[in-house]
Amino acid sequence: MTNTQKTSLTDNMYCLGIESTADDFGVGIARFNGEILANAVEGYVPIEGGIHPREAARHHAEVADKVFCQALTDAKIKPKDLTCISFSMGPGLGPCLRTGATVARALASYLQIPLVGVNHSVAHIEIGKLETGATDPVTLYASGGNTMVTAFESKRYRVFGETLDIALGNCLDVFGRQAGLKNQKGLPLGAAIEQLALKGKNLITLPYVVKGMDLSLSGLLTAATTQLQKEKHPIEDVCYSLQEHAFAMVAEITERALAHTEKKEVLLTGGVAANKRLQTMLKAITEEHDASFNVVPQKFATDNGAMIAWTGTLAYTHGLITPINESYVKLRWRVDKVDVPWIN
Ligand code: ATP
Ligand code: FE2
Repeated sequence: MTNTQKTSLTDNMYCLGIESTADDFGVGIARFNGEILANAVEGYVPIEGGIHPREAARHHAEVADKVFCQALTDAKIKPKDLTCISFSMGPGLGPCLRTGATVARALASYLQIPLVGVNHSVAHIEIGKLETGATDPVTLYASGGNTMVTAFESKRYRVFGETLDIALGNCLDVFGRQAGLKNQKGLPLGAAIEQLALKGKNLITLPYVVKGMDLSLSGLLTAATTQLQKEKHPIEDVCYSLQEHAFAMVAEITERALAHTEKKEVLLTGGVAANKRLQTMLKAITEEHDASFNVVPQKFATDNGAMIAWTGTLAYTHGLITPINESYVKLRWRVDKVDVPWIN
């Protein structure tokens, strides 16, 4: 057998990761060498309005079995092949997190393999690094529940800037609902706004609130919604203006973090990373600092089990195992409180 034919130990080690922080229930399977073998997901779509946590949790309990079986089929492995089970331990919505944790505990107990609690925000960063090859980036993580700029410093992912009120994705989603937009063909509201914004021509002045390294989006949301209600501007212009203001704010704080840390990579991750206009703006600021721009592939941008599985392998190989009797969920588990011993 030549060197290249040799199979390493990690080729036969697999982590199954369960994601259930909000509206998606996902099960991913990662090989310890970084190959993603499965990324099955079922999303809960509210009949109207935002996510109702208990309804979403009920949905997760109903689809858990199906999504689990789908992931194993996709990965072409059997439950007995799994090395460990990881799950999103927080931050997120209590009922949703608890449903995922219950499934994870049951599987780990039944299969008699270790359980690994994973921080959801760290997982968004780690899947971005794995898929793009970035090693030490300044990361803009923008999703429905989070908007923050982080970078690794002194043993942890430190938060260099964040929203003081609502998250970027939430701002877009609430605006979208107020505008009567629908999740057509399963597309998120942020994507619907992106499509309308492409047809916008006139920039309406809206609140732009950056305070030090942080930003605030609630005033922008109110002002954009008010513009809609006044019916003076076409919806395309309001979508365009909302995006331009919000994205310029997150780009500004990302640029500050980049200048401060002098890192050479920028990573864009989280559900809003799918937005092409946001990608373009961040790429522009990145290039001004001679850094490389990296964006998480779309299938790993929104919540997914693969990122939990991959982060589970990193934690497990560095001795981070969660005893079942300590596996309570942490609704507000901040990224800067998480040990990441796999980074030097
Ligand atoms: P968390 O905050 O816990 O990470 P989440 O469930 O809100 O979780 P994601 O699935 O990562 O997070 O992101 C969903 C968000 O991404 C929604 O707000 C959605 O509107 C937004 N989004 C998805 N596609 C686009 C797009 N093309 N443009 C803008 N926003 C988008
Ligand atoms: Fe997320």
